[in-house]
Amino acid sequence: MTALGTIDSANLNGGQKLAVKYFSVALILFGAQVVFGLLAGLQYLIPDFLYEVLDFSINRMVHINAMVVWMLFGFIGSVYWLLEDESGIPIVGLKLGNIVFWIFTLAVAAVVAVYLLVQIGPGEHSTLWLITEGREYIEAPRWADIGIVVCLLVFFFNVAATFAKGKWTGIGGVLTLDLIALFGIYMAGMFYTTNISVDQYWWWWVIHLWVEATWEVLVGGLMAYGLMTVLGARRKIVETWLYIEVALMFGSGILGLGHHYFWIGTPEYWLSIGGFFSALEPVPLVAMVVHAVFDSGVHKMRSSNHPAMGWLIAHAFGNFFGAGVWGFMHTLPQINLYTHGTQWSASHGHLAFFGAYATINIAFFYIAVQKWRGNVWMSGGLIGGWKWKWSMVLLNLGMVGMTMGLLVAGYEQSQIERAIEGSSWAGYFAAQSHPWFQQGMFWRMVFGGMFAAGYALLVLDLLTIGKRETRPAQRPSADG
Ligand code: HEM
Ligand code: HEM
Ligand SMILES: [Fe+2]
Repeated sequence: MTALGTIDSANLNGGQKLAVKYFSVALILFGAQVVFGLLAGLQYLIPDFLYEVLDFSINRMVHINAMVVWMLFGFIGSVYWLLEDESGIPIVGLKLGNIVFWIFTLAVAAVVAVYLLVQIGPGEHSTLWLITEGREYIEAPRWADIGIVVCLLVFFFNVAATFAKGKWTGIGGVLTLDLIALFGIYMAGMFYTTNISVDQYWWWWVIHLWVEATWEVLVGGLMAYGLMTVLGARRKIVETWLYIEVALMFGSGILGLGHHYFWIGTPEYWLSIGGFFSALEPVPLVAMVVHAVFDSGVHKMRSSNHPAMGWLIAHAFGNFFGAGVWGFMHTLPQINLYTHGTQWSASHGHLAFFGAYATINIAFFYIAVQKWRGNVWMSGGLIGGWKWKWSMVLLNLGMVGMTMGLLVAGYEQSQIERAIEGSSWAGYFAAQSHPWFQQGMFWRMVFGGMFAAGYALLVLDLLTIGKRETRPAQRPSADG
């Protein structure tokens, strides 16, 4: 056995070895997201920066697609991480899982290379198949789409078959059912129609139903496992909460889809359905905050992994504020009429994706690195503990600052472009050149820089944390 504090894959079970591969790629793609975000943000301030070399449209596309893919990699990794623990047996198709990991990673690299090398061209059928499908957030060309579905099916098979052969837990059941929905819905983004309303109608099935229903349920399952691992929370308690949260999420999130059907040419009844159900979406997010705070209190914050615990709490609050509060602000049609498609949406998009999903992935990175180093001490008085704390401060403060900058710009757009100028072409330019808009864009960059510094420190920390520790992990207090 190697010494405590040394990275050694013998410390991991089969699923966990595969998980750390997924986590490594996720972390690299997170870096790509940050770099291309900074480039796109700079182009708001200096419009001809990299013009015709690396256009805004490309930077924006790589920025948000890298985000979707790194989060998916993180989720797949997290499920592989807990699979053997939960089911009690080795993963059924681990070899296949490994092969698929490499295919998936190479396909992602190929798609990004094509985006960067081709950049512009005609919108033909061959473009759709080989270059890009042109659907925001899921722009992968058709060949890669099909590949993604195959990879995800293998993943689903591994999860379902392993639980079926081993034992089912509440978390296992929820995850398995959720994965059917998660991969099924992806296919709704693969239809091609020339009618833009019909196209958008199906596209939102992926975008909204993913992030507000299936991804939320998935992270609910991860949160339950996370709280048991780092706090020693009782299974009965976390699983009871999980069932309540899942019921509330599907109950509000499925028809909440209507808040994207206000102005795309769909029938008018969506105004009331979307407004009503999406207004209920914050309810399960409040439940999650109560759940996390309740469990932490019961266990007197005594956790075996302080960084992971910190990020799990950040997840509960980030999800509530980013999705719940920032989403609620513009979800009623009367308000959305003015805010639709302004920087207000970007403000919400940033805080929600970061708060709900970046956070919980980072928590799992820390859970993984602790075990990888032989279950080393990661509680109070940790050697070099300033790094995780500072990176957490910089990332969260950077994100809140960006969100505020974007919100100010969004308010200004709603007021000037929409309310005063009545959505005219001239109104658009009046809003874009107003000092409040431009200052919002400036401060977004300043806080974006802070976020990037936080990311760099996070990577450094994940590579070094626990290295010089020789104490074994603190055991979380057994119960409550
Ligand atoms: C973690 C969960 C969530 C994430 C990651 C998320 C993310 C996003 C993103 C990225 C957009 C912009 C989409 C575009 O490109 O047009 C958006 C739009 C929107 N979101 Fe969310 N969201 C979440 C939850 C919610 C919730 C719970 C609500 C309501 C309570 C909400 C309300 C809205 C509305 C109304 C829009 C449309 C904005 C517009 O008209 O431009 N979101 N969301
Ligand atoms: C490092 C700092 C970052 C900068 C400078 C940045 C900048 C940008 C820019 C310029 C856009 C295009 C906005 C537009 O079309 O008007 C954008 C879009 C977006 N970014 Fe970022 N970003 C950063 C980090 C992040 C992070 C960490 C996340 C989430 C975890 C994120 C999520 C998004 C989303 C969801 C959109 C699409 C928003 C929408 O369509 O409304 N970004 N970002
Ligand atoms: Fe939505």
